Amino acid sequence: MNSGFLFRYPPLVIFFITILVFVQIPVFLCYDLYASCNNKYHCGDIANVDYPFWGAGRVRGCGKPDLFLNCTRNITLIEMRNVTYRVFSVNMTTRSLKIAREDYYSGGICSPKSVNTTLDSNFFVYSSGYANITLVYGCPPSTTPELFGCLGIGVPEINGPGICKGPTVFVPVPTMIGDIWNVSKMEEVLREGFEVKVERG
Ligand SMILES: *[C@@H]1O[C@H](CO)[C@@H](O)[C@H](O)[C@H]1NC(C)=O
Ligand SMILES: *[C@@H]1O[C@H](CO)[C@@H](O)[C@H](O)[C@H]1NC(C)=O
Ligand SMILES: *[C@@H]1O[C@H](CO)[C@@H](O)[C@H](O)[C@H]1NC(C)=O
Ligand SMILES: *[C@@H]1O[C@H](CO)[C@@H](O)[C@H](O)[C@H]1NC(C)=O
Ligand SMILES: *[C@@H]1O[C@H](CO)[C@@H](O)[C@H](O)[C@H]1NC(C)=O
Ligand SMILES: *[C@@H]1O[C@H](CO)[C@@H](O)[C@H](O)[C@H]1NC(C)=O
Ligand SMILES: *[C@@H]1O[C@H](CO)[C@@H](O)[C@H](O)[C@H]1NC(C)=O
Repeated sequence: MNSGFLFRYPPLVIFFITILVFVQIPVFLCYDLYASCNNKYHCGDIANVDYPFWGAGRVRGCGKPDLFLNCTRNITLIEMRNVTYRVFSVNMTTRSLKIAREDYYSGGICSPKSVNTTLDSNFFVYSSGYANITLVYGCPPSTTPELFGCLGIGVPEINGPGICKGPTVFVPVPTMIGDIWNVSKMEEVLREGFEVKVERG
């Protein structure tokens, strides 16, 4: 067989090129993916995190696309359904994360950036031992005791339906917390965050 043979049969050339492309390249891709997926996620105090998460040294293909851990200045953030959470710890044995809403964590209770504390239910469930509290914003000052040190925050029990014009926010807090209806206690509880479990993925 001389080189003239292939040129007389162009389909054969395409056949060999096809073989080269589809057989060779995936071998290299697999190798790269395998190598980088061996890297564990490491950021600040959080270490040894792997599938289904990705971020830092782990490329997107090493985890579920939505489970991106954003390592910024040794702080881990995760976004779910437009709510940004700060991640305090990840335990791959119990498949649990301790998280808090980043807006409440760094900005206090007065100006939430998000409304509901919505988890990505495709992956996460609340751990047991939490219950939602509900805060309503944009209440007329006359109806809100200066409970939270900023005007216009109320609770549905007091500032009933239709009175407050701002968003309604619910956020999980530990059920065993006791009396939280004072601003410093409430902010402390919100900053401590809550635990979620990776149920699927
Ligand atoms: C990670 O979080 C930082 C701080 O909020 C933000 O500026 C940055 O855009 C985020 N990076 C990605 C890839 O989402
Ligand atoms: C992040 O943490 C590492 C080790 O704990 C430290 O060496 C590094 O300076 C920290 N980086 C920043 C930006 O805080
Ligand atoms: C997230 O925010 C964007 C822009 O505000 C909006 O278009 C999108 O529907 C939101 N996604 C969810 C899941 O709420
Ligand atoms: C994960 O949780 C288990 C069980 O509670 C505990 O024994 C282990 O030390 C935890 N691991 C990390 C890295 O926190
Ligand atoms: C927040 O949750 C409440 C109660 O489940 C719901 O009625 C409301 O529509 C939600 N708001 C947004 C913006 O998702
Ligand atoms: C808080 O409310 C949301 C929406 O109603 C619900 O999905 C979630 O399970 C509740 N959280 C807790 C800890 O009960
Ligand atoms: C609010 O709670 C904090 C912490 O539990 C406590 O130190 C403080 O005295 C309380 N303030 C009021 C006004 O009750």
